[in-house]
Amino acid sequence: MFACASPGAKTKMRTVQDTKGELLNKIRNRTAKVGVVGLGYVGLPFAVEKAKVGFQVVGIDGNVGRVAKVNAGENYIGDVDDEELKQMVLVDKRITATTNWDVVPELDILVIAVPTPLTRNLTPDLQFVERVTAEVGKRIRPGQLISLESTTYPGTTEQIMLPKLVLTGLVPEKDFFLAHSPERVDPGNKRYTTKNTSKVVGGIGPHSLEVAAAFYGETISHVVQVSNASAAELTKVFENTFRAVNIALVNELAMLCDRMELNVWEVLDAAFTKPFGIMPFYPGPGVGGHCIPLDPHYLEWKAKELNFETRFIALAGEINRGMPAFVCEKAFKLLNKLGKAPSRSKVGILGVAYKRDLSDWRESPSMEVIKQLRAMNVAVTYHDPFVPQFEEHELAMTSSALTTEWLEGNDLTILITDHTGIDYKWVAETATCMLDTRNATKKLSVQSRERVTLL
Ligand SMILES: NC(=O)c1ccc[n+]([C@@H]2O[C@H](COP(=O)([O-])OP(=O)(O)OC[C@H]3O[C@@H](n4cnc5c(N)ncnc54)[C@H](O)[C@@H]3O)[C@@H](O)[C@H]2O)c1
Repeated sequence: MFACASPGAKTKMRTVQDTKGELLNKIRNRTAKVGVVGLGYVGLPFAVEKAKVGFQVVGIDGNVGRVAKVNAGENYIGDVDDEELKQMVLVDKRITATTNWDVVPELDILVIAVPTPLTRNLTPDLQFVERVTAEVGKRIRPGQLISLESTTYPGTTEQIMLPKLVLTGLVPEKDFFLAHSPERVDPGNKRYTTKNTSKVVGGIGPHSLEVAAAFYGETISHVVQVSNASAAELTKVFENTFRAVNIALVNELAMLCDRMELNVWEVLDAAFTKPFGIMPFYPGPGVGGHCIPLDPHYLEWKAKELNFETRFIALAGEINRGMPAFVCEKAFKLLNKLGKAPSRSKVGILGVAYKRDLSDWRESPSMEVIKQLRAMNVAVTYHDPFVPQFEEHELAMTSSALTTEWLEGNDLTILITDHTGIDYKWVAETATCMLDTRNATKKLSVQSRERVTLL
């Protein structure tokens, strides 16, 4: 099937060097056609980066609305520049999007960035990776590189994807290449973007590694090669586990400081003046987003399979998941001081996004805070300039305007997300009472902070 016959010449079998050489050439002269599966927070910025340096990019996504938006040059991801997307789609015509999998054989490289959520039981839910792999597997052709960027447990690329990709009879490391290169993007981070954040790459073998490293090296300043795909998968889940554990440590300190009547923010700021042996992490109302609350559970699940208990992960998860309850407990104490029963109280939540200056409210601790307050019959409203409305299961809310009336009308305002562009001096001085879970009012004078309680 892969014999390449030229008229009058002896049939010459194509070697891996031929296949790899062709793909490497296409990568180097940027004629390789790049498919990006999943045009979300990870996929769309990646597609734009690749298109900007000259690659022809085809986005594949099951979401018809997203595909239509991309094809119209309309941006819907904060980390993507509106004008750059327009330029790439409408002017340079280097990005198109489709829902049709039949485009797969036309592509040289497929980068997969689909969700890797958890099931209700906190176990890995790989249905998106599996579905995509099945679609690609049906259409794979010789000479392609497939790279999984979704965060997942060690072994996914080799044990879940690879068996589905060889069903057509193609030989990995000879006919096609397979790698894992975890995405490290930090949404909203202006200093470190996809382009200047080093990229870890692991292949299912040396040829896959070489091709994948060459592909990523074209646009990313530093590519870190590891010995296999599982090592790359573990690198990513470890990075997020490291964050989850350290956040849990400072969250625990915050709860202890509350009992000791000490200011945790002051203690941490003092501790972080030490120039070595420590790095800054700050407490908050809990962890949110698509990474920190989820990824450590991927590792925890894998460890259990090997009869190994990851105690740090379990403990960190327990502490971080308990933070919304701690916030509510502090809120009820403040309302009590004001002589207000929860069922007669109005609480305003300032910021519902999981992180500053983002519109993403997935897994945001604000959801849990709102649910717990509502369970005590508190009347809850919110304001978030980035989230005009949201709907999560039975919880559907619309943002209130940030006005003097709203702040004065709330018995308590709880700051959950410290978006920039909000006048916190005015908020702190206007709110009837305020619980600041992010120390956003740090720079205000003692007078301005008179009605502010910190986490
Ligand atoms: N968002 C982040 O900050 C971030 C950072 C690093 C890594 N990651 C990881 O990257 C992966 C993607 O995350 P995201 O935040 O970009 O997700 P997302 O939800 O923003 O985007 C995923 C896209 O995949 C599409 N999709 C889902 N199933 C599909 C299918 N079967 N066929 C075609 N398209 C399909 C969805 O329609 C969606 O547009 C996850 O594994 C995540 O953990 C995310």
